[in-house]
Amino acid sequence: SPRCADDCASAAATAGRDVAIGGAAAKSSLGLAAAAFVASLSSFQFGYATGILNVPQRIITTDLGLDKDSISWAVVVSIWALGGLLGAQVAAVVADSRGRRPLLALSGLTCGTSGLVAFCAGTASLAAGPESVGGRSALCLLVLSRFISGGGCGMATVAAPLYLGEIATTETRGALGSLAQLSVVVAIVVAQGLAALITHHLGLHWRLVLGLPAFIGAAQLALLPLLPETPRYLLSRGLAQGGEARGEAREALRLLRPRGGQASEAVEAELAALEQELGAGAGGGGRRGVLLLWRDSPSLRLPLLNAAAMMVGQQLSGINAVFYYSTTFFSSAGLDSPVAGTLLASAVNPLGSISAVGIGGMFLSSVGVTAALIGKARASAHHEDDWSLNWLSVSFVLCFVIAFELGPGPIPWQIGAEIFPEHARAAAMSAAAALNWVCNAAVGLGFPAMSSALGSLVFLPFAAVLLLWLLFTARFTPETRGRSVDEIQVEFRRLAALGSRKPARAEGDGVPLSSIRQPQG
Ligand code: GLC
Repeated sequence: SPRCADDCASAAATAGRDVAIGGAAAKSSLGLAAAAFVASLSSFQFGYATGILNVPQRIITTDLGLDKDSISWAVVVSIWALGGLLGAQVAAVVADSRGRRPLLALSGLTCGTSGLVAFCAGTASLAAGPESVGGRSALCLLVLSRFISGGGCGMATVAAPLYLGEIATTETRGALGSLAQLSVVVAIVVAQGLAALITHHLGLHWRLVLGLPAFIGAAQLALLPLLPETPRYLLSRGLAQGGEARGEAREALRLLRPRGGQASEAVEAELAALEQELGAGAGGGGRRGVLLLWRDSPSLRLPLLNAAAMMVGQQLSGINAVFYYSTTFFSSAGLDSPVAGTLLASAVNPLGSISAVGIGGMFLSSVGVTAALIGKARASAHHEDDWSLNWLSVSFVLCFVIAFELGPGPIPWQIGAEIFPEHARAAAMSAAAALNWVCNAAVGLGFPAMSSALGSLVFLPFAAVLLLWLLFTARFTPETRGRSVDEIQVEFRRLAALGSRKPARAEGDGVPLSSIRQPQG
């Protein structure tokens, strides 16, 4: 039964601890670095598409004859998240039936196509006035390109963390996991910097920046055949279909692990540990959708709840209110050059993803922004313009962004590859990503209305979500650093057991503080 399968997996997990996957010899190699780079191009596409409309928004809407608050523009912005939601759904099916590498290829192809379509949209708008038939077809093409881009990015949000998580050793898993988010944040800077340079400074057409994903997609498709499929996927498919998977998985490991010395012994040891882990999980009832996983595998409920809470928390923290609307926000905060503020916000973004702090920093920053905005509203009621309050609110937004990257940014994406056993991983990650896209759309669509309704208090709902997330994390999220997937499963069982028997003891009973729980430690 599934319950038995869970228990069997647990027993093997404990037994498998001694053969921690990717022993000391298998740290990193050129092959691993190259594979990680090519996979992270998918995350780059996601970040690029996230940041690209913020700066040239006014120019594009003028070209297309739209008001920036028009329904048509809202469609351009929101259709992307709808595409993302669908893409994340397709991802689980492709990842499980065809493999992780084909999923990367499909995301590269889809994002690349969206770049081509966006370029055509720009060309159509150049060739025609906004009110003409050509102008309308430019708008339709732009909407189409955003939808396709969303699809590609939705797949990317599953493909990159999944592939990176599965090619990593236990030692390199944290670094490779953060690589996905690092690529996102670097891409946001590149997108906004390029947009400012090309459209504002050089006065060139926006189709050049919106078309760039076509080149990135082409580069990724050209490089992907050089990458191996993940050894985990190869082995698990072999186990499921009774095929000869060992040889292929060994070949993949050879490409990904250091050569020379005791390389082949290390590869054999890793292969054996993987087989042991997957063999235990293979009895888990095969691959199932997330609702069935929830119903049939009680031990997966806490990991699923964690993945969901991370995704909801990440998006409802309001981070994309900054990345989508910072130019407008900074101009209402009284900044002379709001585009510079936007660039600054994306430039500080990568600072955070290199080390680790977290949700608490975001919470404090959002309270800080609120205080500064209230002060500013009071000052302007007395017809005073206090520049120090303007700068204070901007500085708190910058701290908010940095704190985001110290935990809430990277961890939700990478944790899926760490907390789910193989048979549940793609389905769970894709469901979590879908939730992320829904919340992303909610903030993207809702923030302008929220901002006019709440005024200076606009960051308070985000602060409330952050506080809830902080409490959830402190109570229910285990340490994952340096632990194998099996060990993390065991830890989840322990936390779940604590939750059902002695809820009050979770903090004091030696649960190690994790990078996820930075605010307390
Ligand atoms: C994360 C979020 C994404 C956000 C980005 C900002 O990847 O999922 O929505 O735009 O971080 O760095």
